[in-house]
Amino acid sequence: MGDMERTEFALPEERDVDTQVLAGEQDTETTLRPRSLDEFIGQPKVRDQLSLVLTGAKNRGVTPDHVLLSGPPGLGKTTMAMIIAQELNTNLRMTSGPALERAGDLAAMLSNLTEGDVLFIDEIHRIARPAEEMLYMAMEDFRIDVIVGKGPGATSIPLELPPFTLVGATTRSGMLTGPLRDRFGFTAQMEFYDVEDLTRVVTRAARILDVTMDPDAGVEIASRSRGTPRIANRLLRRVRDFAEVNADGHIDLAAAQGALQVFDVDELGLDRLDRAVLSALVRGHGGGPVGVNTLAVAVGEEPATVEEVCEPYLVRAGLVARTGRGRVATAAAWRHLGLEPPEGALGQL
Ligand SMILES: Nc1ncnc2c1ncn2[C@@H]1O[C@H](COP(=O)(O)OP(=O)(O)O)[C@@H](O)[C@H]1O
Ligand SMILES: [Mg+2]
Repeated sequence: MGDMERTEFALPEERDVDTQVLAGEQDTETTLRPRSLDEFIGQPKVRDQLSLVLTGAKNRGVTPDHVLLSGPPGLGKTTMAMIIAQELNTNLRMTSGPALERAGDLAAMLSNLTEGDVLFIDEIHRIARPAEEMLYMAMEDFRIDVIVGKGPGATSIPLELPPFTLVGATTRSGMLTGPLRDRFGFTAQMEFYDVEDLTRVVTRAARILDVTMDPDAGVEIASRSRGTPRIANRLLRRVRDFAEVNADGHIDLAAAQGALQVFDVDELGLDRLDRAVLSALVRGHGGGPVGVNTLAVAVGEEPATVEEVCEPYLVRAGLVARTGRGRVATAAAWRHLGLEPPEGALGQL
């Protein structure tokens, strides 16, 4: 996942995608994953809709429609895919778009499915074209054509598949082709979490990790987590480290604030990369409009990282607006950097 890699601005343990998580951290991530729809915090709309889809299918004795989970990293897409298989009492087979380079890679996955399995394809927007075309037929008719041999002697052998449910996850639903998107019966748009839900996430995680935490410390961590449970759990672990080194391990407000300062997380939860992007936009380009590629070059990151990892939250926090001509800083962005917004800045009071 090269273009999601974070280089010089990244804190190593923060905000990266699953595969980049350090081994020890990954273990805790697994322990902290909710295992049922009831345990899953927040996203009430997605939970209600999904619960209907799953219950309806269970009652009719059929496999549920294919499900697309869409939203920024760390909001619970992989967790939700696991929960879907769990709720259906079935196997979960996992792969990812970048791993499906050739149609044969997908054929191998598909021909190993048993009836009712959930096939999870992470980052499905990055699936290669030939595999995608095979997937259309698999999703629609539970059938694929396997090409055997090469050149003029090649023959295509039809292969029946057992009914299965495809769960796709994407940080870029806009990059999905129309035909692929149309084959999902249900699309769940995961939203950033509010502070209340994130407080429940960290409180639950503290209990599981067996650390004691004051309620106001929980709120503090939650409100600096960029609306993202993965970040909330990471910050909690950093705060725990801080509390163990500087005090008796109990997390109070002072420990939370002290740790967040050490780890460069500001009051809005922005980290160094977020602030670098804002600064490039405001200081480097007078507040914009400026294209995402230009911003990416300015901060030394891949455009995809800026677009998929940083921007969604900056937009949601009201600091950046996406316009037809490029990205624009709002008045709040100027103030966040300690600057006076210019006359006519977006969102000027
Ligand atoms: N709704 C939730 N409630 C509690 N914890 C959650 C929730 N969603 C995500 N998490 C936590 O955040 C981590 C990242 O979630 P994940 O499903 O891997 O996100 P994504 O696949 O969208 O990047 C999980 O390990 C889990 O601990
Ligand atoms: Mg994931």
